[in-house]
Amino acid sequence: MLVTTKEMFENAMKGNYAIGAFNINNMEIIQGIMDAAAECKSPVILQASSSAIKYARIGYLMKMVEAAQEEHPEVPFAIHLDHGPDFETCKMCIDAGFTSVMFDGSKYDFEENVRLTKEVVEYAHSKGVVVEAELGTLAGVEDEVSVEADDARYTDPMQAKEFVERTGCDSLAIAIGTSHGAYKFKGEARLRFDILAKVKELIPNTPIVLHGASTVIPELVDMCNKYGGNIPGAKGVPDEILNEASKSGVSKINVDTDLRLAMTAQIRKVFTEQPEAFDPRKYLTPAREQVKETVAHKMRDVFGSANRI
Ligand code: G3H
Ligand code: 13P
Ligand code: ZN
Repeated sequence: MLVTTKEMFENAMKGNYAIGAFNINNMEIIQGIMDAAAECKSPVILQASSSAIKYARIGYLMKMVEAAQEEHPEVPFAIHLDHGPDFETCKMCIDAGFTSVMFDGSKYDFEENVRLTKEVVEYAHSKGVVVEAELGTLAGVEDEVSVEADDARYTDPMQAKEFVERTGCDSLAIAIGTSHGAYKFKGEARLRFDILAKVKELIPNTPIVLHGASTVIPELVDMCNKYGGNIPGAKGVPDEILNEASKSGVSKINVDTDLRLAMTAQIRKVFTEQPEAFDPRKYLTPAREQVKETVAHKMRDVFGSANRI
């Protein structure tokens, strides 16, 4: 069942758990995620970045979303634009049938972010679509050393309140120490739960989104490296921290890197162990299965979204 994230987030906030939002780029990833959601009886968000849309092509993407809906009518899921860069991209997705869009104005100054987000919110709401916005800058690994000293990069809770009130956005991505990709922390992984708590205190009814939330699953990194990969020292947000975030008011947790690792680890394994194999189904079948397992683990053991349908 294709839905917006409204009811999903209301339930997640009441039940103190988070909905997984997984990035999609192709059929195998969509199938792996949806199979996991069906098996775990978990609501889920499929999200596509603008580069994923360019890669998969929007017509194909929407037909696959339609197929997912037909195959798993019992699973409530949203199709969401991840990091929409401008009004035009958001509009294109809304017009194509997306049920949720993110406008990412985090690179603009506060006033410009408010102005641009509002424009998207007005159009989206007129079409029954919800909007995620972002305030604050996600940490880059190079900045990690000065984390405590540099509060400016983190979301300011007071600004978050003003931002939500002025834009009317439906959910808000905040910066509390995560970053995109496979290299999130040089030293110990730490998130600013104090900022999260303050944000929740000021805007308790706004669903909070955590980007850059892959665990960078060590087993998958090891498997990639074992079979010819070269991803040394990769590090993400440990399951325990994500579990705590899910229980502390984060309603949406974004995962892309872990699915990339899942696919790549299995494909590398087949390529190494069966150099004679050249049928794509030989490597895409275990890759899809690994996506499913990875997603199911998060739903069941980390985010708490299993058995919530
Ligand atoms: O947050 C960004 C996502 O990981 C999407 O990445 O733009 O390479 O598809 P992408
Ligand atoms: P990761 O790179 O940690 O998977 O983050 C994905 C994300 O935030 C997508 O918007
Ligand atoms: Zn992101």
